[in-house]
Amino acid sequence: MYKGNTQQGVTLWFTGLPCSGKSAVADLVAKILKERGCRVERLDGDIVRQSLTRDLGFSKADRDENIRRVTFVSKLLTRNGVFVLTSFISPYREIRAEARREIGRFIEVYTKCSLEACIQRDVKGMYQKAMRGEIKEFTGVSDPYEEPLNPEILLETDKQTLEESATAVLDKLKEFGYL
Ligand code: ADX
Repeated sequence: MYKGNTQQGVTLWFTGLPCSGKSAVADLVAKILKERGCRVERLDGDIVRQSLTRDLGFSKADRDENIRRVTFVSKLLTRNGVFVLTSFISPYREIRAEARREIGRFIEVYTKCSLEACIQRDVKGMYQKAMRGEIKEFTGVSDPYEEPLNPEILLETDKQTLEESATAVLDKLKEFGYL
């Protein structure tokens, strides 16, 4: 009888300020996992917001709805043996706790980075716009970010290299028995 691939799924939930390195680290970890033959899916805020959640903005209610839909998809993939790597600001603690409860096999990865370092990176020039008042409700400038209190993985992306951060995530996956 075909028993299928025995990989046990898990969601790696990256959370952090804009430009804190969520997508960069998640992309690198996803690449390494794929090279090792794992089944991997990436869900990224900028991409998901062009499709599944394109009707949503950045009020608290809309951000929470964004995260609820992503949670639903992550749950389906996780229970089917996929490594899911999500990268959303997901600024509110309570909705992250809800995602954790729903998904079950859930690892919270906090890309901790000082606001100053994020502003310096400002990949898309959005901090500058937010500071000029051209973007409202911008996380870190004019909207809150509730730090994780007890994340499974804490990355200090203003102190570590991208490679060091990715290695820290992979080490934890091993420690938790997913690799
Ligand atoms: S979340 O708060 O709902 O989790 P999400 O990660 O999906 O946010 O989307 C964040 C992306 O939306 C940012 O990378 C940025 O490009 C864009 N964006 C546009 N407006 C805002 C805003 N007001 N606050 C934060 N991000 C914004």
